Amino acid sequence: MFVLGIQGSPRKNGNCDHLLTLFLKACESHGAITRVIHPEKLDVGPCRELLVCEKKGVCPIRDEMEKKGYSLVKKADVVVLASPVFFYNVTAQAKVFIDRCQMFWGRKYKLRLKDPDGYSRQGFLLSVGASGGKRLFEGVELTAKYFFDAISADYAGSLTYRNVEDAGDILPRPELAEQIQDAAKHLLTPMLMKKSILFVSNKDACLSQMAAAFLKDAVKGRMLVLTAGMDAAKAVDPDMARVMAEKNLDLKYRVPQSLDGVLAGMDKDPHRVIFIGLKDTTPDLSCANVETWDIVTPQIPSLEAFRTLRDEIELRVKTEFSRL
Ligand SMILES: Cc1cc2nc3c(=O)[nH]c(=O)nc-3n(C[C@H](O)[C@H](O)[C@H](O)COP(=O)(O)O)c2cc1C
Repeated sequence: MFVLGIQGSPRKNGNCDHLLTLFLKACESHGAITRVIHPEKLDVGPCRELLVCEKKGVCPIRDEMEKKGYSLVKKADVVVLASPVFFYNVTAQAKVFIDRCQMFWGRKYKLRLKDPDGYSRQGFLLSVGASGGKRLFEGVELTAKYFFDAISADYAGSLTYRNVEDAGDILPRPELAEQIQDAAKHLLTPMLMKKSILFVSNKDACLSQMAAAFLKDAVKGRMLVLTAGMDAAKAVDPDMARVMAEKNLDLKYRVPQSLDGVLAGMDKDPHRVIFIGLKDTTPDLSCANVETWDIVTPQIPSLEAFRTLRDEIELRVKTEFSRL
């Protein structure tokens, strides 16, 4: 389970900083691996409304968003947005990051691509404000909801606190620890209860990525479907992403992890592991159900070869999991 926090406050050791740290610690106590993005510290500029994302599905602005933003959002099972209220909305720092996620909006709504992880990804909001008005969090909540929708995450809820002004004001609240523990438990427990299946293939993990995407699309979040390469890949194979986009499945930016990395992020062994195209080189795993799919990969990779592989894998997934 990977939980990504976006710390939108520019204030170090401020209220959102504390809230997010406590929330992520609670997630870690349930076995999650966590990471925090500080938009303030990233070299990420605002959206310039070039609209390239709506036509081509990519952002032409060359900064740190691609490597330190998009791929982490795509990897996340849970995205936690933490921002204080600044003029009845999120901070400018958080908003820059959110606006640049218009790229995901373009892929989803203009190019009609479906993120296979969108069936299970969750979004959660943490916010504070100095005043006490009834409508204090309306702007922040609306922005968070539409941000989560763009990144294909379901809005799972929020913890918001009024009358919080000076750094650290949030900490003495007696209700805080219990509310955070409850929210993290409520968010993660259903995910941890799911049956899990892990696909593993060779470097770049193209075969396992494709199989996992077809299965995720079929089970619609009812199972935890994971994918790994024998080694960590540096980037998504563009040809693989392209042939999967022809099936309306969006795998761009979803960089595959290594087998060791995926297993380290799980609190228990996967229920089933399927090695694809690794006939003689499968490692020994302690998991109960390990099997292999003998899919022959072409010597010379080409788009046409990828399409054939994709169709073969799609058929195999449909056949093997027809009862799901
Ligand atoms: C530029 C700016 C705008 C703010 N706007 C609001 C506001 O509209 N409503 C409100 O209740 N508090 C407002 N605040 C107060 C902050 O929300 C509050 O101090 C909060 O605790 C800061 O959180 P942090 O410590 O995580 O940065 C504003 C503060 C700043 C600096």
